[in-house]
Amino acid sequence: MNTHKNMNACVHWDYSYRHVGKDNTKKTNDEIFCMMETHEFYLGDIRDLVPMFVKIRKDTNLKVADVGGGIGAFAERLRRIAPGHEYHLLDISKEAVDICKDLFPEIIATCGDMEKLPYDSDGFDFIISSQSIEHVTDIDKCLFEVFRCLKKNGLFVSIFPYKWPVDGDHNYSLDDDYVYKTLAKYGDIVEYKDSFQYRSKIAIIKK
Ligand SMILES: C[S@@+](CC[C@H](N)C(=O)[O-])C[C@H]1O[C@@H](n2cnc3c(N)ncnc32)[C@H](O)[C@@H]1O
Repeated sequence: MNTHKNMNACVHWDYSYRHVGKDNTKKTNDEIFCMMETHEFYLGDIRDLVPMFVKIRKDTNLKVADVGGGIGAFAERLRRIAPGHEYHLLDISKEAVDICKDLFPEIIATCGDMEKLPYDSDGFDFIISSQSIEHVTDIDKCLFEVFRCLKKNGLFVSIFPYKWPVDGDHNYSLDDDYVYKTLAKYGDIVEYKDSFQYRSKIAIIKK
């Protein structure tokens, strides 16, 4: 049973992960897998991130979390390009987490809320949020949690739609202030530039 406070969001995302494609009909996990494999979606951003992984922590096994990670499309591609690390995924949609567990068993997937991460403090080298933080109900709570869970010098990679209007899905419209005023409170801005994803930016913050 879903016990998260934002029930509407859960219902919305549970539905949207199953009903994909132009015909909007309910899909099986195999069909979802095929659709994901044929999408080039995240590859530009991921190829950009990998050299950073390698440079920063050459010899150690990285601990990486993708929060609001959906079915694992981003995390799984990252894992394939940079294998040998520990990949976690967290999402509020149980449906998405179940699909992730089935399709990508190497990813440690958990159903939960980004505003209260079920992880120990100072545990992760990288935490990634791709198109997810603008959907939470309290962004400050979420960032507090992200930076609590990062190790010292760990990196938060935030990919967000730039100035996307608030609507039924998006609770925040994020712009440069999100990076220079909000994220900057939590660490140093390592990089801030256009993302390869549609109308989006990527900010990398070091704790
Ligand atoms: C636009 S999707 C992005 C999914 C994935 N990161 C990607 O790039 O494909 C937004 C995701 O955020 C999740 N989400 C929304 N609010 C959340 C919350 N409070 N905690 C965890 N996940 C949340 C949704 O369930 C959904 O999977």
